Amino acid sequence: MAADQVQAVLDRALADVAGARSTSDLEQVRVRVLGRSGELTGLLRALGGIPASERPRVGQEANRAKGRVEAAIAERQEALRTAEHRQSLDASTLDLTLPGRYTPPGPVHLITRVMDEIIEIFEGLGFSVAEGPEVETDYYNFSALNFPDDHPARDMQDTLYLAKPWARPAETVRGGGASALPAPAQPATLLRTHTSAMQIRYMESHTPPVRVIAPGRVYRRDNLDLTHTPMFQQVEGLVVGEGVTMGDLKGTLIGFLRELFTPETPVVFRPSFFPYTEPSADVFIGCQQCHGSGCAMCKRTGFIEVLGCGMVHPAVFEAVGYDATKVTGFAFGVGIERLALLMHGVEDIRLFYENDLRFLEQFPQ
Ligand code: DAH
Repeated sequence: MAADQVQAVLDRALADVAGARSTSDLEQVRVRVLGRSGELTGLLRALGGIPASERPRVGQEANRAKGRVEAAIAERQEALRTAEHRQSLDASTLDLTLPGRYTPPGPVHLITRVMDEIIEIFEGLGFSVAEGPEVETDYYNFSALNFPDDHPARDMQDTLYLAKPWARPAETVRGGGASALPAPAQPATLLRTHTSAMQIRYMESHTPPVRVIAPGRVYRRDNLDLTHTPMFQQVEGLVVGEGVTMGDLKGTLIGFLRELFTPETPVVFRPSFFPYTEPSADVFIGCQQCHGSGCAMCKRTGFIEVLGCGMVHPAVFEAVGYDATKVTGFAFGVGIERLALLMHGVEDIRLFYENDLRFLEQFPQ
């Protein structure tokens, strides 16, 4: 083997590298020249067979040739890769110059907006906002709020129970009817029927004075009709402190309702009953549709009931460890859908939850 043999392999290799049209062409050249049984590899391996006097020179030539081929391959590879990448971009259907697809922003849901308005009014009056669980125990939803054990609201007809504490082995029931049943082994869990449950939770974790509202979803076993949905939303309010009076209750609620509707809206308090307040009242506003002359909306009474309220019952204070001889308080609960119906002249409560765009789009922001 002579130096010109090396040169010949080198020349051909460099020409082939320069002529490679793709990275796979290039790989073929690499294998042919530098691979395990490649041309240069073979020459290097054959060095032992040539005369000792020529060996160093030829060996040097061969190694230099190897280095040059390797460098040429690396350089060509880089160029080919860039070109191939550009080609694949050109060939793809991605057109970066196309304008983006427009997704119209939906308006905030009417119920959320009414809720936000109410929260804003009460925040302006210095109330803080607390949220609580929708899955409650009998204790927070009923017992601590002074509901007697046999109160009809606890009935399965009204309340959606999750775990039934009275579901016991059949033989116990067979024994002697409902009155013979032993005390429940575990508390009932249920979907809260009103946000009033939050009164208890809030007072358990805060000392007076208290000024808080608790917005949220509530659930009842109602069938869907014009005025009922099994899930609806409420805002609960609670104020506790020394010397809080029914006058404070009336001033706060009249102010709230006149801010939400109009400054002239008539507001009327009528005696009512709730286990957790004494005295209790239902609050009515003048019908926004007929302004008192009587229409279908107000069932010809000129007034529409919008919330329940009252002075917190001492038994409730006792349940949360407040001293009922030191503090007094008032509470109220407002149904949001009812207010939204009145504020926006909607006649069917179900429309709020059907997500029909033809309805929702009638209330752009
Ligand atoms: N919890 C009542 C309801 O769901 C509303 C209510 C009435 C809340 C009187 C109160 C209250 O805090 O004092 O109908």
